[in-house]
Amino acid sequence: MSEVRIPSQSAQTTKLLLESKRPEISEIELTLFENCNIVCDFCFHDKKSQVGLSKEEMFSKIPIMDEFLSRQQNRVKIAQINVVGGELFQDRWMERLNQDYYELLIETKKSFDKYNLKMKVVFVSNFLFKKKESVKELIDKLRDYGIDTHLIVSYDFEGRPLSKSYWDNVTYFGPEYICSVNLVGTSGSIKKFIENKDNNFKYFYKNFNIFFDDFIPDNGSDDLIPSDREFSQWYKYIADNFPLIQPVADLINNQNNSMHCLSLNKVTIFPDNKTSNCRWHRYKQTDFNTKLNLKDNSGMMQNFIDEMGCLQCEYFSRCGFRCFTQWDWKNRKRDMEICPMKSFFNHIEGKQD
Ligand SMILES: C[S@@+](CC[C@H](N)C(=O)[O-])C[C@H]1O[C@@H](n2cnc3c(N)ncnc32)[C@H](O)[C@@H]1O
Ligand code: SF4
Ligand code: SF4
Repeated sequence: MSEVRIPSQSAQTTKLLLESKRPEISEIELTLFENCNIVCDFCFHDKKSQVGLSKEEMFSKIPIMDEFLSRQQNRVKIAQINVVGGELFQDRWMERLNQDYYELLIETKKSFDKYNLKMKVVFVSNFLFKKKESVKELIDKLRDYGIDTHLIVSYDFEGRPLSKSYWDNVTYFGPEYICSVNLVGTSGSIKKFIENKDNNFKYFYKNFNIFFDDFIPDNGSDDLIPSDREFSQWYKYIADNFPLIQPVADLINNQNNSMHCLSLNKVTIFPDNKTSNCRWHRYKQTDFNTKLNLKDNSGMMQNFIDEMGCLQCEYFSRCGFRCFTQWDWKNRKRDMEICPMKSFFNHIEGKQD
């Protein structure tokens, strides 16, 4: 069996080292349930699961959020709740669920007020629903209540079914309601993106904010993980062709950036009320090089900065690093000598690797 890497310094030391890179907002990844009405190739949720769908289960997450928020006061000004499923907006349950989301968030606002934090809410959806008026009403009601509320629509170059309702909804909600269009950087999707033949994407790029996220691996997904070379080409291609795409735009434009990974300021709440810093409970030690700690990602971060040599790197202030979970995944292709992010920065600075 290959060796598990145990970080040389304590998690506390790593956190101190990375303090300057800590994101300025906190995040609750509120995974209410995994149930979904479709299947995307790169998503590992249990689409049939009913766990977390009841109002009681949703409300049982309030004390967990309160505890997390109590630790964020005086640390950040804004905390964002990413409400996700599975799919939140399924026509078959729309009325009941939307009412539950509303009551849940109104109740949660009390914690934000108690700890003097500004509340931001984002619902992430596949946008395949037909009952769009009900979704709009939910957002309008939350906004009327003083909660800054938006939608994220997911789009992908492959592996995600779309329908006519999807496009109807995109036009209906527009940038006033949709704060971002999010894509996932699988190996296949990056290849399609670089082929640059997708007119839907060009429409999104012209009209919306775009966030191209790192693929989070799971059991059996090794082929979907971009190699280091693909990763680096992906970022370079964005810089050369679509420089407004986040998080790359910030790397191009700012000399100082926080790390993209929010896990220092984040709690992920799962449907069964388990929590983690980011990673799934079903992950196994054999999936990773670093010793697995579901409550704290800093060991993995430390191995990353040690191995890449980040503390000696000229781009340390500017760099957002990358998804540490993907980086640490044992079975992914490591095919570059140099750090892929460093190669990207060299590219935008017109330097040779
Ligand atoms: C799990 S989905 C739930 C919300 C909704 N059903 C949707 O598809 O937008 C939340 C977001 O995670 C993305 N996602 C799914 N599987 C992923 C993975 N393995 N790595 C990174 N993001 C992933 C989806 O594309 C979506 O933008
Ligand atoms: S729509 Fe969302 S939850 Fe459903 S399979 Fe796709 S990514 Fe997963
Ligand atoms: S460019 Fe690479 S080595 Fe430099 S700080 Fe970023 S991740 Fe670390």
